[in-house]
Amino acid sequence: MTDRYAVIGHPIAHSKSPLIHAQFARETAQDLVYDAVDVDPETLPFALRQLHDEGYRGLNVTQPHKTEVAKLCVSVSERAQQAGAVNTLLRVDNGWQGDNSDGDGLMRDLARLGYAIAGQRVLVLGAGGAVRGILGPLLAARPALLVVSNRNPWKPEALAEEFKEYGSVVPRTHLALKGDRYDLILNATSAGLSGTLPRLPGQLLADGGACYDLSYGAAAEPFRRWAETQKAARFADGLGMLVEQAATSFALWRGVRPPTADVLQALRAR
Ligand code: ATR
Repeated sequence: MTDRYAVIGHPIAHSKSPLIHAQFARETAQDLVYDAVDVDPETLPFALRQLHDEGYRGLNVTQPHKTEVAKLCVSVSERAQQAGAVNTLLRVDNGWQGDNSDGDGLMRDLARLGYAIAGQRVLVLGAGGAVRGILGPLLAARPALLVVSNRNPWKPEALAEEFKEYGSVVPRTHLALKGDRYDLILNATSAGLSGTLPRLPGQLLADGGACYDLSYGAAAEPFRRWAETQKAARFADGLGMLVEQAATSFALWRGVRPPTADVLQALRAR
């Protein structure tokens, strides 16, 4: 029987995961099907049991389930615990194992783009769920400085405290960044979804510095425009991260890492 996988979320129709994984399967000659399943938050425990009973081999998890699903796993990987979120489920006999490929996806995309972290001054804008998922891998890559800024100081302060065993995270408000210079600025706020950007002081980017937005499409446009005003040497949106985190999930399930370049090109062309 053909192995089955799916992405669960609510809503789910917008998800690019079925397209991405279908292309990965073709490119690696893997026999599998990948569905999109709309799961109402109220029925999440039931849906997970049902998908297990139906024989699904693995699941991707998207919003609003990424936090809740962790509580329903038989075990959760260290990086998913760190992230406080699960985006990948692996089937085991008695249920689901939870993992998170988002941080790995970002790091692989930054490597693909040639954006260095080691020894660099790195600023992360935002202090929500997306940031929690990337701080561990960013710290492991040994930046010279890792600053997390937000409109209010409490969330970055809490993150700095939470991650202190992994390295130093410097908490700031956006406005307190005035006078700083960074080699790489990552936008991990959700402000772009409403077509905006946090209010930032000018001249935050060092000469030759790069900007990266974890979102893509229209949501990345405000930060792309800001990067232009900062004379960023390079800018990239998070479409590459989306593809890389999917490839990491695929590799966890199938034991083979798919090539990502053609999938990324196909998504850009759409
Ligand atoms: P996600 O899962 O996308 O990280 P989240 O946990 O709700 O979502 O976090 C959203 C982040 O984007 C927060 O850092 C939030 O800042 P506040 O904590 O100050 O609310 C930030 N954010 C969202 N909308 C914003 C806006 N219009 N301007 C500035 N920051 C914004």
